[in-house]
Amino acid sequence: MAYELAPLPYDYAALEPFMDAETVKIHHDKHHQTYTKNLNDLLANNPELAAKPIDDLLRNLAQVPEAIRTGVRNQGGGYANHTIYWTLMGPVGSDGIGGAPIGPIAAQITADFGDFEAFKKTFNETAAKQFGSGWGWLVFEAGKLKIISTLNQDTPLSQGLYPILLNDVWEHAYYLKYQNRRPDFLAAWWNLVNWHEVNRRFAIAKG
Ligand SMILES: [Fe+2]
Repeated sequence: MAYELAPLPYDYAALEPFMDAETVKIHHDKHHQTYTKNLNDLLANNPELAAKPIDDLLRNLAQVPEAIRTGVRNQGGGYANHTIYWTLMGPVGSDGIGGAPIGPIAAQITADFGDFEAFKKTFNETAAKQFGSGWGWLVFEAGKLKIISTLNQDTPLSQGLYPILLNDVWEHAYYLKYQNRRPDFLAAWWNLVNWHEVNRRFAIAKG
C-alpha cells in the first residue's frame, strides 16, 4: 500500500493575499508530491513498513532498515509535515480561520504565554531563527505548550511529541511572494491558521 497525497482542502487561491496561489500550487503539487513519491519509492520493497500509518513510521525510525533510514526520515517527514500543514490553514475570511485563537487552545495559550501576542512573538522568533530549512512547531509537553523548531523535515513525532501547530520555513514556502523576508511571511501567516484544526490536534496531544 502506498502513501497518498491528499488533495488540497481548498482552492489554490484560497490563502490569498497572505500566501499566493502559485506558491500553494508548486508547494502542494510539486514539493509535497515529490516527498510522497520518494517515500513510496524508498519503501517499495518493504510492504510491512509501507502499510504503517505515517505517524507510527516517524515515531519509531529505529524500525526502519539503516540503509533507508535517513531517506525515510527526510521524505517521510516531508510527506507527513506537509499533510498536517495544509489542514492547519484555511480560506481567508472563513469562520475560525486567522485572528485570535478560539476554544481550549486559547485558554492554554493565555495560561502558558500570557497572551496571544506574546505567544506569536515567541513562535515567530523561534521559526525565524531556525538556520536554513526547517519548521516551527507547537507541542504539548509535561502539561504545558512548548514552541520548538526542527531542521529539514524532522518532526517532533520522532521525539515522542505530537505536533499541534506548525509553520514551514523552507524558502519554497514563501520565496515567490516574500523573497528573503521570512519574518514578514511568519507575521502574515497567522491570518491563515485554522483554529478548529489546532483545537482538534490539541485534544489529541493532551491525550
Ligand atoms: Fe514545504
